[in-house]
Amino acid sequence: MLRHLPKTVPDPNLLVGLDTSDDAGVYKISEDTALIQTVDYFTPIVDDPRMFGQIAAANALSDVYAMGGKPLTVLNIVGFPVSKLDMSILADILSGASEKVQESGAVLVGGHSIDDQEPKFGMAVTGITHPSKVWTNSGAKPGDALILTKPIGVGIQTTAIKRDGLTEAQLEEVMSVMATLNKKASEVLQAFDVHACTDITGFGLLGHAKEMTCGAGVGFNLRFDQVPILEGTRSLAEQGIVPGGTKANHRWLKENVVYADTIDEINQWILCDAVTSGGLLASVPKEQAEEALRKLKEAGVTYASLIGEVVDDHPNCIHVQ
Ligand code: CO
Ligand code: CO
Ligand code: CO
Repeated sequence: MLRHLPKTVPDPNLLVGLDTSDDAGVYKISEDTALIQTVDYFTPIVDDPRMFGQIAAANALSDVYAMGGKPLTVLNIVGFPVSKLDMSILADILSGASEKVQESGAVLVGGHSIDDQEPKFGMAVTGITHPSKVWTNSGAKPGDALILTKPIGVGIQTTAIKRDGLTEAQLEEVMSVMATLNKKASEVLQAFDVHACTDITGFGLLGHAKEMTCGAGVGFNLRFDQVPILEGTRSLAEQGIVPGGTKANHRWLKENVVYADTIDEINQWILCDAVTSGGLLASVPKEQAEEALRKLKEAGVTYASLIGEVVDDHPNCIHVQ
């Protein structure tokens, strides 16, 4: 939608703008500091208001981590049906969010709320990084290895919540995965030569991977059996629990993905499944990948996995084996 905006005069300090569908805007304010700015909000995806606040905050903060930055300040964005819902629900959303802001080390500086038909919550986040250390989504180099730090299957599992289709253990796990900050993953990876990074959200693993391939004019080879997937996702998808957005991603990605015969349509949907508050997908030099993975696991990023590699044949295309 934003690309329909009229073109403005280029500003040399704008390091990352609208052109590359990146996670956040980046603007250089001095030789050693660049501002990272991002905004994200949505309607509740879980019933527990405190958990919703945590997830929305982790999701909004994630775009700063995906740029290799450190979040500094946060503004809350609130829509709430004041006349229909008890204000204690809003208090719980805000307190969940505040826990995550605290954990991130950022500080809440304000916000804005409006009376709305249904609850909405999110944040505008400002972070900083060094101008020469910005992780765009378009710097992947042939010979890199690809690391994913959180499991996929989130869209299918959260759709199952609405149909009471999850076990208690599954519900706990998907909520905990969504509420986990990408802070540790980003901090660990900052010690390595990250060539490109993004976080996995609405376009799914393959949608965001596609943006990375097209951004760099490279190809990806992914190994399905190395992709971390929330337990039980396949059986939910087999029962027909696949969100419309996930199938739309799958259709939209047809031109850019070649699946091996062993990857049936169910597993294709899982790879395209829309994610909320997903993990980082990072492209790092192959010789650093094992060490990066070990450090991630040590830091408690337990789902982290090497899921494939960057190649120069089949540019703008992902091969899944
Ligand atoms: Co993002
Ligand atoms: Co975002
Ligand atoms: Co990035």
